[in-house]
Amino acid sequence: MVGTSATRAPARDLESRDLLPRNAIERIAPEAVVLPGFAAADAAMLCADVQALIATNPWRHMQTPGGQRMSVAMTNCGRAGWVSDRAGYRYQSTDPCSGRPWPSMPARWSELAARAAARAGFARFAPDACLVNRYEPGARLSLHQDRNERDLSCPVVSVSLGLPAVFLFGGILRDDAVQRVPLFHADVVVWGGAQRLAFHGVQPLIEGQHPELGRCRINLTFRRAL
Ligand code: SIN
Ligand code: FE2
Repeated sequence: MVGTSATRAPARDLESRDLLPRNAIERIAPEAVVLPGFAAADAAMLCADVQALIATNPWRHMQTPGGQRMSVAMTNCGRAGWVSDRAGYRYQSTDPCSGRPWPSMPARWSELAARAAARAGFARFAPDACLVNRYEPGARLSLHQDRNERDLSCPVVSVSLGLPAVFLFGGILRDDAVQRVPLFHADVVVWGGAQRLAFHGVQPLIEGQHPELGRCRINLTFRRAL
């Protein structure tokens, strides 16, 4: 084990991540890792690409199957996009707001995700869906499994941008113990294999101002959906 969440800096300490060695891998479970700052060189590009994406496929608060409005705002790119409404959770090839296919995933996005997956030990990851989440202060994501994807042998790659958040990472049973993992701008989390169906979520975002993104956190989650 290279490190654990216990070695992580507190979420409000925005400076301390820079003290970690480059190329650090923090293993949070046998097949789940945090790659601190892995997306640092790509972060400005990702932020600009997200702005372009929301110009055509704006943020929206989806409804849970139970009829609740999600506090996280979302959009997608890729061959499939994750959607939720009264009919349930699923992937679909078109944006329900426009009826048109989701924009294709930029090659530089899928390349970054593949590099992160390889670094975590998952070779040849080729994502076909990217769910883009926006958290404003107070927004949260309750514990859930990512289980709408067809091929669960592929990992999930998650890139954090903007304000720090506390990522919750549990086991494959809802009642398993949950780790609290602080995630900062440009951190990447990869989970797969025995952890592919691990329960995870995000604690309510703390108020703050990020130099690049202002008062929000954006998360890109790459999956092989189809
Ligand atoms: C997700 O579970 O889809 C997103 C996780 C995150 O925002 O870090
Ligand atoms: Fe998830």
